[in-house]
Amino acid sequence: MEKLIGLKKIKTAIFISGTGNNLKNLVKFSKKIETPISINLVISNTNKAKGLLFANQLKIKNKVFNFQNITITEKNILKLLKKEKIKFICLAGFMKILSKGFIKKFNGTIINIHPSLLPKYKGLNTHLRAIENKDKFAGCTVHYVNAKLDSGKIITQKKIKITSNDTTTSLAKKVLEEELKLYPAAIMKIFN
Ligand code: GAR
Repeated sequence: MEKLIGLKKIKTAIFISGTGNNLKNLVKFSKKIETPISINLVISNTNKAKGLLFANQLKIKNKVFNFQNITITEKNILKLLKKEKIKFICLAGFMKILSKGFIKKFNGTIINIHPSLLPKYKGLNTHLRAIENKDKFAGCTVHYVNAKLDSGKIITQKKIKITSNDTTTSLAKKVLEEELKLYPAAIMKIFN
């Protein structure tokens, strides 16, 4: 990964599909002096993503792409990323799977946050699966994105204890709190 030169921040796009807690948090993080990234673009696959409201409030350029035809969509996204000189992509609750070709074009510069202790529980319903399996720990992971779902090299992880009272809702809340610390920490780790 290229090193941060001087005070020049790395132009970053955040891809979202939902509430945007991680987006908000990354924007806050990007405004700190020592932060290596600036957030210049938000991309969503749905206009229902609440995170878009936040992007609009903060006047961060944002665009919704309909993923019905993934080939055309990704071509258009790549065009926009090029136009905005984006060099780094953070997936933050983005629920679409990017193609091998797209990932190759951004080789090594797309990262994702996932609500489990990968390689355990790739995909959906991570908290439910952890509770049903009577796991002692849940967690979250930031990893590079490669062509296989939730399988790229792990950058950092945080373990979170599952208590006997935990429900999927309480666990999701605890995990999200840790995600908000883990994602910025992962970015600092990459660029320092
Ligand atoms: C987060 O918990 C994130 O880890 C998860 O979606 C949530 C998004 O929340 N991502 C995935 O499940 C990706 N496979 P947010 O929109 O409030 O940041």
